[in-house]
Amino acid sequence: MISQNTIQQILSRIDIVEIVGSFIRLKKRGTNYLGLCPFHNEKSPSFTVSPAKEIYKCFGCGRSGNTIGFLMEHEKYSYVEALRWLAQKYNVDVEETETTPEQKLLQLSADSLYIVNSFAQKFFTDHLFNSEEGQDIGLSYLKERGFREDIIKKFQIGFNPEARDSFAKAAIHAQYSVDLLQKSGLVAIRDERPVDNYRGRIIFPVHNQSGKVLGFGARILKTNDKAPKYINTPENEIYVKSKILYGSYFARMAIDKADECLLVEGYTDVVSLHQAGIENVVASGGTSLTPDQLRLVKKYTNNLTIIYDGDSAGIKAALRGLDLALEESLNVKLVLIPDKEDPDSYVNKVGPAAFSQFISENKKDFILFQLGVMLQDAGTDTNKKSAVVNQVAETISKINKAEDFTKQQDYIKQCAELLKIEESGLHALVNKFIREKITKEETRASREDTNNRNSDNTQPVEIEDDVMALLNKDEPHERAMVRSLIEFGLKQWDEKQRVADHVFSEIEENQLEELIDNKNLLILVKTYKAWYDEGLEPTAKTFLYHEDNMIRHLAMAVMDYHYEISPNWKNVYEGKIDSREDLYKEEVFSTLNYLKLRKIKRMVAENQHDLEQAASTDEQMVLLQVHQHLKKMEIDLTRKLGTVIFR
Ligand code: CTP
Ligand code: MN
Repeated sequence: MISQNTIQQILSRIDIVEIVGSFIRLKKRGTNYLGLCPFHNEKSPSFTVSPAKEIYKCFGCGRSGNTIGFLMEHEKYSYVEALRWLAQKYNVDVEETETTPEQKLLQLSADSLYIVNSFAQKFFTDHLFNSEEGQDIGLSYLKERGFREDIIKKFQIGFNPEARDSFAKAAIHAQYSVDLLQKSGLVAIRDERPVDNYRGRIIFPVHNQSGKVLGFGARILKTNDKAPKYINTPENEIYVKSKILYGSYFARMAIDKADECLLVEGYTDVVSLHQAGIENVVASGGTSLTPDQLRLVKKYTNNLTIIYDGDSAGIKAALRGLDLALEESLNVKLVLIPDKEDPDSYVNKVGPAAFSQFISENKKDFILFQLGVMLQDAGTDTNKKSAVVNQVAETISKINKAEDFTKQQDYIKQCAELLKIEESGLHALVNKFIREKITKEETRASREDTNNRNSDNTQPVEIEDDVMALLNKDEPHERAMVRSLIEFGLKQWDEKQRVADHVFSEIEENQLEELIDNKNLLILVKTYKAWYDEGLEPTAKTFLYHEDNMIRHLAMAVMDYHYEISPNWKNVYEGKIDSREDLYKEEVFSTLNYLKLRKIKRMVAENQHDLEQAASTDEQMVLLQVHQHLKKMEIDLTRKLGTVIFR
């Protein structure tokens, strides 16, 4: 890992205008800079760079981020690669922190898998084009199917000769260990001898986001009932099937531009569509989409169009798991290719223009499509039909209501029509599912909560209603506290100490876990403290540029959060409205003490509960004293806090 110290040095030198400006032409407009967006097609510039905020934002496609984000997106660097690039540019020496032996081993193993895969890909490509067998069998097969040479080269398609061990021999000769070769799936051991796993097959390399080879799909050439059509790389450190979408490396830019991702089943579908100039396409390998794959799509676009052949067994698989897409707010459309064709054969038959036209004219909404299929299944059976109504209501309830309210209303209307039922009835049913989901989540959360707090008592603690409001997971207040620490931690609290010193001494007395429930926010505070104790000076930037993706996202979520102290707290004097900056002490004070107050209220409630259960008068006396003590603390704190009003 690159040390925090190095990262800080790099960050302190970053000039976003200089970096972004070295890739695209920027013109000054007021305090910002403006240029043509590199991430989508546009004629008039809407790509804005703000040197003050150190971010870019495109008002055309909505893409935004900081300098590192820009390098990652534009140059396809990983986070670490982007840092190294910047370090070189600004002449910062990169200092690496110690990695644990386990991490090192894992890293070594992953690295060597990439290396052996790259070696294998070159071997297979070389044999496809330059060996007699490869040309006669492999290349001629591909050409017969209509694949052009430039496309074969682009996708680095190759050929593994028929002989027992031609690849294994070459690899062992090149010093690759048999263990590694086995783990990569390229070689197997038969009768104590290494043999090629993909003998006589066409090889499709599977690339990651930055174009490195993760593994292979090896297609048989002969029609042979016994052998599987494809042999795929086994799961290993780098080949994790549930996280892979074939073709995503080649599709990325096109998905950006089209703001749509096409999903097909197979390798050949992806390659053929590319050849036809339709490049925003990836393949799932015929299985149902996993949450990780959906997230990958979601990184590029909100619009997913699934293109399957009409009688594919894959449709049902694809439909499964799609409720999840709704929760992620993806718009899912479905197109079925007619006449027993698949996308590959269909585009070859009708040509690119007709194919694209067919897709755009036959896109069906996923929910309505699913409803159609189910209604057909149900026929005239009223029992089955009412099961369909329930199913549809449940699916619709998964649509993220906050983001897609109108979409949900639309679906209710359209589905009610198709089902020939009252709209209001379906509405009520959808709401029932939403309520059930919320109740389930709350029960789970409160169970976890209770379990964490008193492990020997699994009964939920019953608490008065008005206190309940405060005891609830009122994350906004926790977020506000963490945000004020991150933003104002380095400012002076008083003559002797800084805000961070003050916060941590207060926390010391209270135990962090008792003040903050949210595990993610805890991580942020602990990270801050660890850095601060080390003598680093953490700022919002340190978090927003952190190597760990999760920390970056957490920090972003916290910084986005809108929090303001009521300006009534102090006078709005001489027409000057105090900003958060001016009121930072008040903000730190109020957010921290709010959490302290919550903690005390919780203790009061628990004590109250114990009091009701107390077996003896002695025990009651003790608990009563505790009660009085806690109440006094609560009153004091409320009084102190009373002057600060939350919005
Ligand atoms: N697949 C697999 N293993 C198999 C069969 C299929 O992993 N035994 C996956 C592959 O990713 C394949 C996809 O499912 O690309 C779709 O299968 P299919 O339509 O049978 O193959 P195509 O790639 O379309 O091959 P072709 O066009 O040559 O028939
Ligand atoms: Mn096919």
